[in-house]
Amino acid sequence: MAHTATGPAVTRYSPVSIGFHWMIALSVLATAALGIWLDGLGYYDPWQPRALWMHRAIGTSAFFLMLLKLFWRLYDRKPPLEKALTRFEAIAATATHHILTLAVLVLPITGYLVSTSSGSAVPLAFGLELPALVQVGNALRDGLMQAHVVIAYGLLALVGIHAMAAVKHQVLDGGQTLQRMLPGRRPLGDR
Ligand code: HEM
Repeated sequence: MAHTATGPAVTRYSPVSIGFHWMIALSVLATAALGIWLDGLGYYDPWQPRALWMHRAIGTSAFFLMLLKLFWRLYDRKPPLEKALTRFEAIAATATHHILTLAVLVLPITGYLVSTSSGSAVPLAFGLELPALVQVGNALRDGLMQAHVVIAYGLLALVGIHAMAAVKHQVLDGGQTLQRMLPGRRPLGDR
């Protein structure tokens, strides 16, 4: 196992980072699925209010989980990218991670601003709600709704590319990209 001046080289993400990663992934996918379902439901469908409530509540959780993850990162040691990646793969992976992070923060903000544009708070769970702090006008609300849709589908496409790249490096290239983000005690090789 390789060592650095401060101890053994970090080759896996920490259990807390792994927990954040999969909880965020799950909440983003669930929110997207609910959003797509919502789009197909008529306004008077009895499921519409429930689907909208779940969409907003789970989407808000994705936002706060991402904020918590970023704070956690300040104290956590992140494994460096695998040395076996080409220069292009390393740049693409880093850019994808930054864009995914930004999208998971910006997307819920656009949804929040659309939802509070009429001045009403967004009910979450356990009596919690998001207060209507800013009320945007109709034109801006429509623009934000369009941005919400574009960012949501862009995010889904990027999640697909990110997941396929991780599986390709793990399975086809014999790397450990996916394993680094899965729980396990055994240190991985310094590839
Ligand atoms: C990771 C978080 C989120 C994702 C991936 C996401 C994704 C989506 C998707 C795919 C749609 C359907 C777009 C279409 O095809 O028309 C949608 C609609 C919508 N989203 Fe989100 N969203 C997220 C967070 C939020 C949040 C936090 C809120 C509000 C607090 C919100 C409010 C809305 C609203 C009001 C709509 C329109 C619903 C309707 O058609 O009645 N979203 N979202």
